Amino acid sequence: MELRDLKVIVTGAAQGMGAHFARRLAEAGAKVAAGDVNEAGLAALPEGVHRRRLDVTSPDDARAFVAWAAGAMGGLNALVNNAGIIRDGLLVRRDRASGEVTTLSEADWDAVIAVNLTGATRMVREAVAAMARAGTRPGVVVNLSSVARHGNRGQSNYVAAKASLAANTVTWAREFAPLGVRVGAVAPGMIETPMTKGMNQKARDALVAAVPVGRIGEPEDIWKAVRFVIECDYFDGRTVDVDGGLVM
Ligand SMILES: NC(=O)c1ccc[n+]([C@@H]2O[C@H](COP(=O)([O-])OP(=O)(O)OC[C@H]3O[C@@H](n4cnc5c(N)ncnc54)[C@H](O)[C@@H]3O)[C@@H](O)[C@H]2O)c1
Repeated sequence: MELRDLKVIVTGAAQGMGAHFARRLAEAGAKVAAGDVNEAGLAALPEGVHRRRLDVTSPDDARAFVAWAAGAMGGLNALVNNAGIIRDGLLVRRDRASGEVTTLSEADWDAVIAVNLTGATRMVREAVAAMARAGTRPGVVVNLSSVARHGNRGQSNYVAAKASLAANTVTWAREFAPLGVRVGAVAPGMIETPMTKGMNQKARDALVAAVPVGRIGEPEDIWKAVRFVIECDYFDGRTVDVDGGLVM
């Protein structure tokens, strides 16, 4: 699909990669509907980008957002499924000094699953249902997975969600083929955004030192892959790792 023909929803568009994707899409002539729980953050997006508060953990919100977006853009043929959070922690941790054993909290597990797994799946369901009801084809969905999908210490909740998104990218590509909707995923490595700025500095430095290309990634590195998934009509059901070689 051509970028200029897109009527695209971008979730988590108030900052980081989502904001970058929304900006790049708008520059290319796409119609963009940007959603985020951080409504104030959406204000920085370029003029012409439609914006509205969206909490992907709410079924009502997701449905209402998709209906509004299709109305505002005069249709809907693409979703960049980007909203995500982290709540890192070892599943079971023994403190070196005290010997005390603690565990990942139910709340941290549930929060990450609610946004990154259930919320992301909900957005695919609602967006593709809207395309199917309107008889719109072709369509495309780009899921934001993560290289953590291969397994990563301290991220049980995040790994579960991102691995599921990658596996279901295959499921949905097969399910939506009769509807004319392709589904692809991009799995970033370590990218410079507010999400990684909030990470433990030691963990962050160790990760960056392990990147073969020798630097942290930029949102633009991931945009190139998102753009590829959108533009290449022969790409379907697969997840592209874009991690500077970090996972090998
Ligand atoms: N930064 C990285 O290194 C990295 C690596 C791999 C994957 N990812 C994934 O890429 C995507 C974008 O990450 P980022 O680094 O730009 O993160 P970020 O934290 O900078 O931005 C994420 C955005 O999602 C929004 N959001 C959170 N919960 C939401 C909800 N319930 N409903 C709607 N919006 C919500 C936030 O408000 C924020 O604006 C995420 O899915 C993330 O898991 C990031």
